[in-house]
Amino acid sequence: MEKYVLITGGTKGIGKAIAECLGKSGYNLILTYASDKKNAVTVQHELEQHYSIFTKLLQADITQGESVEKINRFLIEENVYLDALIFNAGMTCRSPFEEIKEDDWLQVFYANVHFPVFLMQRIITRMKAGGSIVFTGSLMGIEAHSVSLAYGVTKSAVHALVKNLVKFLVPYQIRVNAVAPGFVDTEWQKNKPEEIRRNIERKVALGRFCDPMELAEVYKLLIENSYLNGEIIVVDGGYSYK
Ligand SMILES: NC(=O)c1ccc[n+]([C@@H]2O[C@H](COP(=O)([O-])OP(=O)(O)OC[C@H]3O[C@@H](n4cnc5c(N)ncnc54)[C@H](OP(=O)(O)O)[C@@H]3O)[C@@H](O)[C@H]2O)c1
Repeated sequence: MEKYVLITGGTKGIGKAIAECLGKSGYNLILTYASDKKNAVTVQHELEQHYSIFTKLLQADITQGESVEKINRFLIEENVYLDALIFNAGMTCRSPFEEIKEDDWLQVFYANVHFPVFLMQRIITRMKAGGSIVFTGSLMGIEAHSVSLAYGVTKSAVHALVKNLVKFLVPYQIRVNAVAPGFVDTEWQKNKPEEIRRNIERKVALGRFCDPMELAEVYKLLIENSYLNGEIIVVDGGYSYK
């Protein structure tokens, strides 16, 4: 039977690595992105060239409520029932505590917490029984974050959401888990100044950032292992405050 997965923010970084990892295993992919269409189309071509799967793209901004209905309509029009749904796209706000604006705070909460809840509510009946939802949490939802208050708090909420959702998803026979990455070598991290990157590496027992493909394998495990449910899998290379 054909397998389908939808990955939010599936065209760069962690999302793209998950797409590659699952594409290699024969999953058909629906990848959402925010605005970089050129990159998304390049990724689509690469994936379709390497693997015999179909890859569909959909522009759907997680800060916009209308994206929920857009994704729902897309699944109906394509007549797709999902084996897996990956909430990967996320957002942050790096304003200092004293300067955080209410609108920015609310936007981070909307994108990281509210959007997945209402998307799930809308498309849950387009998921197959036995299917799997995987959220992207963060180590910063467990350890206090010194840079973005809204980010740390919303990622903690994502972890709590996963634990709570287990019971609500029983009638649909859908499992739900999260990956809580430490520091992963995506654009998000690559744009940091060298000195900050070295400082991060010193705090990781393995002495390096995580390769996105190393992380993608954990998403695949969570999708395919039929007894993992309600787990937050921390993948941080052994992080400690050094
Ligand atoms: N990198 C890390 O070290 C790290 C650690 C812990 C957790 N995480 C979490 O992992 C997830 C992915 O991070 P990443 O580092 O892979 O990010 P990334 O490299 O910046 O990837 C961004 C992807 O998400 C899409 N995206 C960005 N903003 C969006 C929006 N408002 N609506 C819809 N899609 C959007 C981008 O589309 P466009 O190309 O169109 O912008 C692109 O496909 C996030 O939830 C992040 O919090 C990352």
